[in-house]
Amino acid sequence: MRHKRSDELPRYVSGSKKPIFEWPRRSRLFAVLGVLFLYWIFHSTRKSALNKGDRNGGVNWSRYAYSLYATDSATLCHAVLIFDALAKFGSKADRVLFYPKYWDTVITNSRDRDSQLLVLARDTYNVKLQPVKLLTVEGRTTDAWTGTWDKSVTKFLAFTLAYYDRIIALDSDITLLQSLDELFHLPSTPMAMPRAYWYDTKPWPLTSLLMVLQPSLAEFAKFEAIISDGGAEDLVKANVFDMELVNDRFRDSALILPHRPYALLTGEFRRHNHSAYLGNLDEVWDAEKVLTEAKFVHFSDWPLPKPWIMWPHEGLSEMQPDCGGAREASCAERRIWKGLYEDFRQRRKDVCKLLSVPAPDWRRIKGGVHPMNATEGTHHEAPQVEGAKEEQRTPVAGHDM
Ligand SMILES: *[C@@H]1O[C@H](CO)[C@@H](O)[C@H](O)[C@H]1NC(C)=O
Ligand SMILES: *[C@@H]1O[C@H](CO)[C@@H](O)[C@H](O)[C@H]1NC(C)=O
Ligand SMILES: *[C@@H]1O[C@H](CO)[C@@H](O)[C@H](O)[C@H]1NC(C)=O
Repeated sequence: MRHKRSDELPRYVSGSKKPIFEWPRRSRLFAVLGVLFLYWIFHSTRKSALNKGDRNGGVNWSRYAYSLYATDSATLCHAVLIFDALAKFGSKADRVLFYPKYWDTVITNSRDRDSQLLVLARDTYNVKLQPVKLLTVEGRTTDAWTGTWDKSVTKFLAFTLAYYDRIIALDSDITLLQSLDELFHLPSTPMAMPRAYWYDTKPWPLTSLLMVLQPSLAEFAKFEAIISDGGAEDLVKANVFDMELVNDRFRDSALILPHRPYALLTGEFRRHNHSAYLGNLDEVWDAEKVLTEAKFVHFSDWPLPKPWIMWPHEGLSEMQPDCGGAREASCAERRIWKGLYEDFRQRRKDVCKLLSVPAPDWRRIKGGVHPMNATEGTHHEAPQVEGAKEEQRTPVAGHDM
């Protein structure tokens, strides 16, 4: 059937007058398509403009923060190393540092390392500085206060950061290998922590190495009250009172983070049985793969000292990963394990301009009854990087055996 021609259609113009202007039929189609096209362009550019203005995909990162604390020059440096890593990984959350309020940010001379590091944190890594009175817990036997005390409970100050929705509180004797930003998006819960998979007794306790917490002044007040009551002598001496506290409170309710990859110890590379870390009995241990997966690694090779203290020679040869018994051999475990220590020492030197603390006497610390007191502390005085003379002291720290 033939369609009516357009000139047969009714006209809106009266009489025989021709319309002043008439869109040709094909042009009408183009016009409609053109409008649709412009509409599409307008919307897609608007969308990308929105994305640019809010380029974090709708996440308001100023509601989240990493919290670290410094109780002395060593922990200050190590906190700065973590901020340095977070900046390198492009972490978007805020960064907060608690430090003793009697420190200042006025650099009096070139050896005023604490002030220099605070200023570095503030100006280079955008860290929000929080001068505070440190929290300490005093050792207590049933009848008496004993004069031992532990400042690691200062980490509980993270609960006071009520401005934020969520905080990641970290210990500083770690090497951060990847950003932890994804943990800010966990389901809402007061506390998420990994388990101390290296414990012999089950259920494994929660480890306070990493706490993903919701700040709460009420929660903080409860911790503060317990802390001011003092703690059992052995726990305080071993610097594990904070862990005890957090387990008492959250053991049954915390969201458990998988320790793989959220809590790897350097000591894992010395172990022969890796099933606890791997989380199954069948998987073949692959040191390289484990390191690639891990979010951070915690230095823990007692009685070998922490990485800011030099290795005693005999201690190193006794303790290093044994490469399946062949002492002279080389293996991924030994390479990785040593590399982690050397990298830490190098970053202390590069970022903090601090060298390592001289090695303790191995016979004195080996087989000690009190695992923590000889080598775990951070109060040790470290030489600063300045002249060539001090430079010469570093090779001892990273001595290759
Ligand atoms: C982001 O969160 C902070 C703290 O809650 C708030 O003050 C700020 O207005 C928020 N910014 C935007 C763009 O929503
Ligand atoms: C490794 O340890 C697990 C317990 O953690 C045990 O069940 C397993 O038999 C051990 N494997 C070997 C080869 O000893
Ligand atoms: C470790 O603690 C024990 C017991 O309190 C003490 O006798 C020893 O001297 C301490 N060692 C060091 C290096 O402080």
